[in-house]
Amino acid sequence: MVGGTMILLSQAGYSTSIPAGQRMHPVQGKEGMVVTSHFLATQSARDVLKSGGNAIDAAVTAAFSLAVTQPRSGNIGGGGFMLISSEQKDEVVAIDYREKAPGRASADMFLDKDGNVDREIARFSHLAAGVPGTVAGLAMALEQYGTISLKEAMTPAIKIAAEGFIVTPRFSDGLKNKEKKLKKWNSSRKIFYKKDGSYYEPGDLFVQKDLAATLNRISQNGIKEFYEGKTAELLVAEMAKYGGLISMDDMKKYSPVFRAPVHGKYRGYDIYSMSPPSSGGVHVIQILNILEGYPISEYGHNSAKTIHLLAEAMKRAYADRSLYLGDEDFIKVPSKGLTSKKYAAFLREGINSEQVTSSITISPGKPLPYESEETTHFSIVDKFGNGVSNTYTINFSYGSGIVVEGAGFLLNNEMDDFSAKPGIPNAYGLIGGKANSIEPNKRMLSSMSPTIVKQDGKNFLVTGSPGGSRIITTTLQVIMNVIDHGLNMQSAVAAPRIHHQWLPDQLRIEEGLSQDTVKGLQNMGHKVKQKSSMGAIQSIMIRDGMMYGGADPRRSTALAAGL
Ligand code: DON
Repeated sequence: MVGGTMILLSQAGYSTSIPAGQRMHPVQGKEGMVVTSHFLATQSARDVLKSGGNAIDAAVTAAFSLAVTQPRSGNIGGGGFMLISSEQKDEVVAIDYREKAPGRASADMFLDKDGNVDREIARFSHLAAGVPGTVAGLAMALEQYGTISLKEAMTPAIKIAAEGFIVTPRFSDGLKNKEKKLKKWNSSRKIFYKKDGSYYEPGDLFVQKDLAATLNRISQNGIKEFYEGKTAELLVAEMAKYGGLISMDDMKKYSPVFRAPVHGKYRGYDIYSMSPPSSGGVHVIQILNILEGYPISEYGHNSAKTIHLLAEAMKRAYADRSLYLGDEDFIKVPSKGLTSKKYAAFLREGINSEQVTSSITISPGKPLPYESEETTHFSIVDKFGNGVSNTYTINFSYGSGIVVEGAGFLLNNEMDDFSAKPGIPNAYGLIGGKANSIEPNKRMLSSMSPTIVKQDGKNFLVTGSPGGSRIITTTLQVIMNVIDHGLNMQSAVAAPRIHHQWLPDQLRIEEGLSQDTVKGLQNMGHKVKQKSSMGAIQSIMIRDGMMYGGADPRRSTALAAGL
């Protein structure tokens, strides 16, 4: 079945307008393009486009399919952000379906008796879960911009959950790696391991009966089922049993919000990205603004000079993030100032283009090295001029590790994205203060950066990535790979990336940079660390009526498929 899928999809390309001598080739299409991190979700969404649906229909189908095929990050127990660009209406809107703190949450809920952050509780308990937004967010997108019913959009996911899918090496490895976390809870052990506790191996069939039943109820009864019906009852009962805070009132009150995306300009292109409660868009634009003042293409792709400037710009943005960013329903974020060209020019003046500026420590605290966490992004465009850029998450791989008994889905551990204590880093080493403190019904700050770049009013790039704090830097590098360095979509997503987040004061690189470049950076004063790969940026470029899909090779199951 899996092999058949791959063959079918690999035949979907069109004759290439990418020069033959290129080292990498994006998938091409004329009538639609889907890029997700799982080939079954790509196939489900592509089928929707093929039968006349639009990109929003396909996006909702992809999201529910990922909740089944990729439970480490695809979800109904988490939240996220969706950007929708309609060329016809000449508008770009954002749907914020980020989780919220429960009504009974409090600023010091993760502090122990000595006032220290209890990381185990903040990340791996029922208290770690925010009120999930995914189901309401997807339904809102479909209702406002879609053309098919929720039931139609959910049908492929329900089928895959009920009939099962063939386990891939990535799926099997993921569950093996997180055995300790998942087996702690009987409800999770039952779903993700065989009856005798052994592993699902590549080639096995993986069926999710409880999840199929939950999805089926939602498809029959709409979002009320998730927020007020049996599913809500199961979730609230799970909370009551284990000391979690989410109440029926929290569930009933949850609602996603339409927000204006942040907008900026980079070398004549219009950049639209996610506004608060994500920090993503503000800082993608802020960093691009700083870099616009340098002839980056002249300095060259991934040269020591270019990387140095990237790192210096990133540091300044992440320092601002720690102070100013949070949920705008609770605090005022100075987005205009942060994304203004004048402020970028001011920051640029402080950058020495030959020498590192060392990061100023505002508080001690060492970030925990959570390196292999997971969120998931997909990008979809259709023949009607719509583009959808969606990133959603349950935070860590498999979220809190806790499956809601009887409902078959994992709870997020998004509460750790709040600043549990001023100056103490969260799992991604990110520091925050008052702006991102825990308050009842507040949304925790995110780095997710679903982004759409337009050129002369037309969708040009649809992109975004997982990767925790690395999301922002991954996204802006792919934008620059296209705009500054002229890379094709596949080369742009595959190219080695770098990351600096101010604290820790460390320039993180992927494999693939030359020794000379690393030496050059060290000579300028950078503390260079090569670590595991960063992000998984599923992206689409549209140019001259042709759609180019680039699936990130950092995910073995990712697939771009065109029409
Ligand atoms: O919202 C955020 O910024 C994080 N919860 C995202 C987590 C993530 O990307 C994990 N990924 N790889």
